[in-house]
Amino acid sequence: MNVEVVKEYYGKILKGSQDLKTSACCDGGGVPGHLEAAIANVHEEVRSKYYGCGIVIPSALRDCRVLDLGSGSGRDVYLISQLVGERGEVVGVDMTDEQLATAETHKDWHMRQFGYAKPNVHFLKGYLEKLDALDLEPGTFDVVVSNCVINLCVDKLAVLRGAHRLLKPGGEIYFADVYCDRRLPDEVRADPLLYGECLGGALYWNDFLPMAKAAGFLDPRLVTSRPITVENEAMRQKLGQAKFFSATYRLFKLDGLEPACEDYGQAVIYRGGVAEESQAFALDQHHTIERGKVFPICGNSWRMLAETRFHPYFDFIGDFSTHYGIFPGCASPGTALPFNAAEPSEATSSCC
Ligand SMILES: C[S@@+](CC[C@H](N)C(=O)[O-])C[C@H]1O[C@@H](n2cnc3c(N)ncnc32)[C@H](O)[C@@H]1O
Repeated sequence: MNVEVVKEYYGKILKGSQDLKTSACCDGGGVPGHLEAAIANVHEEVRSKYYGCGIVIPSALRDCRVLDLGSGSGRDVYLISQLVGERGEVVGVDMTDEQLATAETHKDWHMRQFGYAKPNVHFLKGYLEKLDALDLEPGTFDVVVSNCVINLCVDKLAVLRGAHRLLKPGGEIYFADVYCDRRLPDEVRADPLLYGECLGGALYWNDFLPMAKAAGFLDPRLVTSRPITVENEAMRQKLGQAKFFSATYRLFKLDGLEPACEDYGQAVIYRGGVAEESQAFALDQHHTIERGKVFPICGNSWRMLAETRFHPYFDFIGDFSTHYGIFPGCASPGTALPFNAAEPSEATSSCC
């Protein structure tokens, strides 16, 4: 698919979230309770051009340096700007002039709204497949986020490799995107409307996982997922039986993560202290760690807490000196569809 088709779709054809034809590129714009005050601080025009498919705001972002790939009108950048605080920084990259213009136009307004003396956000024009062409120092970002963008990228492996290069060791890419339960036929991939609506370029989930590993993210963790509804009959006809999902993954940049969850007899205790997760810390869909409770954990998950920005919030029990075999009930991902296939309620199924 030609990038000009995507630029045209997001720069000229769409005027706002209401123009989208499916729930793929639009999750309705709602946010969890702890982000409600922050979203109310985001300019209405920025919010009206939100085309994301998930929440890409991990916890514990204070003082972090964050990169948003495909930042669009800047909604997530301005949300995260408030969470990192004045000593943190958020950089948004996008290729579409109209999207960048909306984001840039409201920069001073947001800085006044947040009470910042100088901007902690920057927007750069660029292609995500060519992140190394931007003036960004490798290994300097704590977190990379992206919201419903990588499916639109022609070379997805190059995007993931570029993100890996820019992350600090122990950093993570936390991103929402659209996936399919199968490889799509060429005629679907070549359809400009299906591509622009974030369906035609969606990866088959079991092609995504090896791709993430090839980019250096050795143990992808699924955080949340939901099925996507396609109510437009003409589009449904073209898509046949293919099923689509919006999923949020987190991929840590940690060298040497193992291919499976291995048991070294380790455990962690969440001490609390992450503002958004006072009672329990959610690492991914399989690990919700209650405060104060001894939580047995595999070697990879241990490292995702011990060697990242989450370290100060945990006590760590054990080490890697003795191996007890595969971690019970937590072996490497199998071949079954990993996503939540239950239809969401009416209120969350579609915004279009
Ligand atoms: C579905 S919109 C999502 C925008 C934003 N993340 C949001 O949640 O509102 C996709 C955005 O990605 C940008 N984009 C798509 N492919 C890109 C690429 N290869 N390089 C840079 N930007 C790209 C588009 O210009 C568009 O702004």
